[in-house]
Amino acid sequence: FVHQLADPAVDMRELLASPLWHESAPALPLPPALYGPARANSRGVDLSVPAMREPLLAALQDTALPQVPFFDAKLAASAYSTGADSYEKWSTTAVAERAACLRRGADALERELPRFCALLVQEAHKTWGDAVSELREAVDFLRYYAGEAERVMQPLELPGPTGESNTLRLTARGVWVCISPWNFPLAIFTGQVAAALVTGNTVLAKPAEQTPGIARAAVELLHAQGVPAGALQLLHGPGETVGAALVALPGIAGVAFTGSTAVAKTIERALAAKDGPIVPLIAETGGINAMLVDSTALPEQVTDAVLQSAFRSAGQRCSALRLLCVHEAVADGMIEMICGAARELVTGDPRRLSTDVGPLIDAQARDAVMRHVQRLHSEAKPLLPPVDRAQAAMNMVAPQAFEVARIGDVRQEIFGPVLQIVRWGTGELADPRAVMAQINALGYGLTLGIQTRIDSRAQALAGAARVGNVYVNRNTIGAVVGVQPFGGQGLSGTGPKAGGPHYLYRFCAEQTVTVNT
Ligand code: NAD
Ligand code: ALA
Repeated sequence: FVHQLADPAVDMRELLASPLWHESAPALPLPPALYGPARANSRGVDLSVPAMREPLLAALQDTALPQVPFFDAKLAASAYSTGADSYEKWSTTAVAERAACLRRGADALERELPRFCALLVQEAHKTWGDAVSELREAVDFLRYYAGEAERVMQPLELPGPTGESNTLRLTARGVWVCISPWNFPLAIFTGQVAAALVTGNTVLAKPAEQTPGIARAAVELLHAQGVPAGALQLLHGPGETVGAALVALPGIAGVAFTGSTAVAKTIERALAAKDGPIVPLIAETGGINAMLVDSTALPEQVTDAVLQSAFRSAGQRCSALRLLCVHEAVADGMIEMICGAARELVTGDPRRLSTDVGPLIDAQARDAVMRHVQRLHSEAKPLLPPVDRAQAAMNMVAPQAFEVARIGDVRQEIFGPVLQIVRWGTGELADPRAVMAQINALGYGLTLGIQTRIDSRAQALAGAARVGNVYVNRNTIGAVVGVQPFGGQGLSGTGPKAGGPHYLYRFCAEQTVTVNT
């Protein structure tokens, strides 16, 4: 992919000539809306306004990806010592001062929006819309955790019948290991690190191998805003060596991990096998996310929600829709509408404003998705044109949809723009509760969409669902920090939810001080 886009002069000409999606899109029965009105967490930047998009496009020319050398895993113990040395001072720095570093970081990130978006487009192949949303989310994490730390770290007086003075307070734990994925290389990286730092911990941050440049830019930005170098160290390298070495360090105080379920379990086992203190693990992992559509649902709303959820970000979101369960009475019409709209999505170069679906992160990810697509071609009914070979050579996979016979046939998270559709309404899937039971039985529990105009049904299904985030009559992606705390259960994670009021507690130890007065 990088090779294909090697000539920056040509690319810029192409980019500047490229019209906005709404200028170029043919008249559609439905707006694809992947570049529709700004979402809540992309507020402030409207790509249809030239004055707002031009600095972004210019930044692409001016921004070079930082080169980040691999960290030598043999030096993990020495990085730990640096973190432990810094801990004394950082953990006793007033929480207001630590929070101020995060707020200054948020301001700086906003000022540097074009550069960071250009990095996201270059290194993570994000579309511009996704890049802006991600930057907003990172800014939101910084401000939200700053305020939350000031709230939760206030000592709590607990007067009561003992006649003593009782105070409950939170303290930092020590040196945290933060391990993040490539699909939100700025927002998730920054969120984990900010939470650990603002509560007084020091951090060994291991970004995904695919996106170290963005992580380095974020770390430099936080250092420039007052976070000491020893309190936040960036250790880039393969998960199996550098990540594993950090997890194995004897003294670490906790691990915040976001990534695949398989790696979360590897880390859980490694922590359990160590001697010494019990180490807390926050693991936020993948999902087989479903949307249940009944016969009262609004077809246009469902179509828009499905397109956003399954195909935005090329399906490379943990929250993305993988399994659509449609009532048989409306299935034919709904499938026709969804597939008709999906065919209109533009798969291509993420730097073009007209692109809806950008490339997968790398050839390995493309191969994994293609293996599933080939299997589904033999096991299920294809509903969209096959993957274009020339596009696949550039790691681009246009939206794919398959009708499968049973919910149980969907066993793995396919991390790409691949939607599987099941009809319900008869036999073992006669009613929505049976559908919900089978979705629960998959064992994952991240996001769920419900599309119905029957409020009591939406409430009953939400109550029965074993998932972290339920979305009724809308898409299932783009949780907004502070108001839609995000995270799953079961195979999808341990909690607590990122961007929620309980998140920071897990980074802290609790201490009760009782004084006989
Ligand atoms: P991954 O599990 O392969 O890698 C995640 C991180 O773990 C990377 O930094 C990697 O280097 C590191 N790692 C790998 N092996 C390790 C080991 N043995 N010890 C320590 N660290 C190790 O995941 P990915 O491919 O980067 O990301 C995609 C996955 O992340 C998907 O499953 C997606 O659903 C999930 N995800 C979940 C959330 C969420 O909030 N629940 C958010 C984003 C992504
Ligand atoms: N927080 C991201 C979303 O909700 C993963 O899509």
